[in-house]
Amino acid sequence: MGSLSCRHIYKYYKGEQRASVKDFNLEVEDGEFIVLVGPSGCGKSTMLRMIAGLEEISEGDLYIENRYVNYVSPKNRDISMVFQNYALYPNLSVYENIALGLKLRKQAKHEIELKVNRTAKVLEISHLLEKLPGQLSGGQKQRVALGRAIVREPQVFLMDEPLSNLDAKLRAQTRAEIMKLHSQLKTTTIYVTHDQTEAMTMGSRIVIMKDGEIQQVAPPQQMYDQPCNLFVAGFIGSPQMNFIAGTITRREGEVCFETKRVRWALPSRHVEALNSAGQNLRQVVLGVRPEHIRIGGAAGQPFVGTAQGRIEMMEQMGADTYLFVDINERANIIVRTEAHSGLTVGDSIEVGFRMERVHLFDAEQGHNLVLQEAIRA
Ligand SMILES: Nc1ncnc2c1ncn2[C@@H]1O[C@H](COP(=O)(O)OP(=O)(O)OP(=O)(O)O)[C@@H](O)[C@H]1O
Ligand SMILES: [Mg+2]
Repeated sequence: MGSLSCRHIYKYYKGEQRASVKDFNLEVEDGEFIVLVGPSGCGKSTMLRMIAGLEEISEGDLYIENRYVNYVSPKNRDISMVFQNYALYPNLSVYENIALGLKLRKQAKHEIELKVNRTAKVLEISHLLEKLPGQLSGGQKQRVALGRAIVREPQVFLMDEPLSNLDAKLRAQTRAEIMKLHSQLKTTTIYVTHDQTEAMTMGSRIVIMKDGEIQQVAPPQQMYDQPCNLFVAGFIGSPQMNFIAGTITRREGEVCFETKRVRWALPSRHVEALNSAGQNLRQVVLGVRPEHIRIGGAAGQPFVGTAQGRIEMMEQMGADTYLFVDINERANIIVRTEAHSGLTVGDSIEVGFRMERVHLFDAEQGHNLVLQEAIRA
């Protein structure tokens, strides 16, 4: 019903030398929920607007359900778009707002009534149909905007940061509603956000962009476990992955990661990957997630890299506590621990890095040197 094919798509805005979207390639299957994520200005909205037909495609081909649509007008693409600003008509009732698109298409009155009522039921806004937008809360307005998109039963939904005007609690709630809706309707959806939490929780696949270019396309867990480069590693995950710059050294039959202060032996998986990446590789960035560092000595255990440090700051999250530990590298490292560890700011501690879980990135190019198909815990 709603597959989508983006082939080598570029966007050059008028008068701009640089492409705002570069060589965007993506095959979306019918029913997928794709989250397009990346920092401000990376080209997410531009890409979405090209799919919608609101922006001309400079180069490349776009197919919706195997139909070439580069030159098809927005209203004939069989898509619905939901924006950040829900822009409801203030003097039309909720019912009329939702029904408008169908009226313009000259659908029969009883059919419109049936569809609007069904949509309102799904979104749990049946009791609001007679109200005016001004009488609704932000979350309710956003649901009406969703209703307006859903009622048209398009092949593809396009959503551009639809939750960013809502407060944190409503955002989480509406996020869950959109997911529920998707599991019912199974309409192919492209959802744009700059929020990595939304990306992790909503997408069947995440597409992460930077400077107009796709960095990686993967299901959320894979994106988290196997980031393809430093940018993805730093973007996905909160708190961020820790990075330590160092050197790969070979001594006494061991391959190690070394800085001025630490020397940690690497597991064979890493060594093999480094060998195939070439002997000349020396400068790397080691990346480790806050949950893969533990407090306390691990002397004698294989492949635990230890360092001495001092707790500079603590953030208590309720279930976990984040420790900001100074280990005399360029930046503090963040360690995720249980809430009731009994530690306080100023404590001197030993931290142990689970080396089998660390990533190694090329210091210059940034790519992950130790990508593998499956990482077991
Ligand atoms: N109409 C336009 N004319 C010229 N340049 C534009 C136009 N619209 C966007 N751009 C540029 O294209 C790039 C991508 O913009 P876009 O709006 O797609 O980013 P985005 O990823 O949606 O960012 P945000 O998260 O802030 O919404 C930016 O550098 C932006 O300045
Ligand atoms: Mg945008």
